[in-house]
Amino acid sequence: MINKQAMDKHSWVRVSCSAAMTFVLTMICVSSSWAEVKVKDFGKTANGETVKEYTITNAKGVVVKLLSRGATLSEWHVPDKNGKMDDVVFGFDDVAGYESKANGYFGATAGRVANRIAGGKFKIDGKEYTLAKNDGPNTLHGGVKRSLDKVVWIGQPFERPEGQGVSFKYVSPDGEEGFPGTLAIRVTYTLTDKNELRIDYDATTDKPTPINLTNHAYFNLSGAGSPTILDHELMLAADHFTPIDDTLIPTGEIAPVAGTPFDFREFHKIRERVDQLNDKPGKGYDHNFVLNNQTGKLALAAKVKDAKSGRVLSVYTTEPGIQFYGGNFLDGAKGKGGKSYAHRSGLCLETQHYPDSINQPKFPPVILRPGKTYKHTTVYQITAE
Ligand code: GLA
Repeated sequence: MINKQAMDKHSWVRVSCSAAMTFVLTMICVSSSWAEVKVKDFGKTANGETVKEYTITNAKGVVVKLLSRGATLSEWHVPDKNGKMDDVVFGFDDVAGYESKANGYFGATAGRVANRIAGGKFKIDGKEYTLAKNDGPNTLHGGVKRSLDKVVWIGQPFERPEGQGVSFKYVSPDGEEGFPGTLAIRVTYTLTDKNELRIDYDATTDKPTPINLTNHAYFNLSGAGSPTILDHELMLAADHFTPIDDTLIPTGEIAPVAGTPFDFREFHKIRERVDQLNDKPGKGYDHNFVLNNQTGKLALAAKVKDAKSGRVLSVYTTEPGIQFYGGNFLDGAKGKGGKSYAHRSGLCLETQHYPDSINQPKFPPVILRPGKTYKHTTVYQITAE
């Protein structure tokens, strides 16, 4: 005979056990150490090297994808104000896309020296070095063939209490792209549950060498492939910027932004004053801003708001400068999912030392010497309101 009381007791125990299990599983699932970083082969370079793709998912369902070619941020899916997910960074569906002319350094790690070096020349300790020119008379973003955006890095995924990520390593041999010294570089991406993507850079060398690393992600907060960034509102924590000559090399002046189209100390729509720059060097915004908070500690550098999606991008950095590039050279070439990246449909906020610093004694120095470690941290955070 079945004892009713005993049965009730047993079912109570069963129910409590399954509730406890559900609770434990939920706790494990929401804790960021649960979801693993997924790794797969993304494709092969023209040289036959395998490019890996790493997928990171945080507790909020935000997804970041990284590629070993160029230690590249290739996708970042974030909710808008209604919870709808969109991928807000530019990229391609395959390696051939990344290797094509349409790739304006999309999401890549730029270096060894990001931005421009005037005349492709510099001197260290009296010795002159000559680089290949790839931007009119200048060298842009580390050179032509083996700049950091083009090489395949070694990725190491990790799960830590603060978030999950991938650490990419690359050792650039002495003389690569004309730069002196064997440079051992590490770029570590960490996605936190606060939807921050933290990028930590460090590097060491065996000969004095210039270094300036940045990430070259193009954002459109309405979703990559949306027609324009001109209605995004921008704030830059910069009282000064570095004016440029016809080849986009700083003139050396540190000019106040006050009374110019470069004054973003309060939020302004990018559209508001950009046309005043259409026939100026850069053909729009493509300038380095001198960040106010230059203590080397992580500080707010920029904020971008998109009223349409409600998404807000905040940029924090330890670097002294930020290049605000408004996508003036984009020409409608197709990227992920066949979407077109039109003129001014993406913006870059490249945290960095100032362009051509190696030739400009008044700018903060960029020479790394043996025994010292280059360090740089930038955090991009995307929220919705
Ligand atoms: C940087 C430069 C721009 C442009 C892009 C890549 O942001 O400052 O002038 O070259 O890279 O297209």
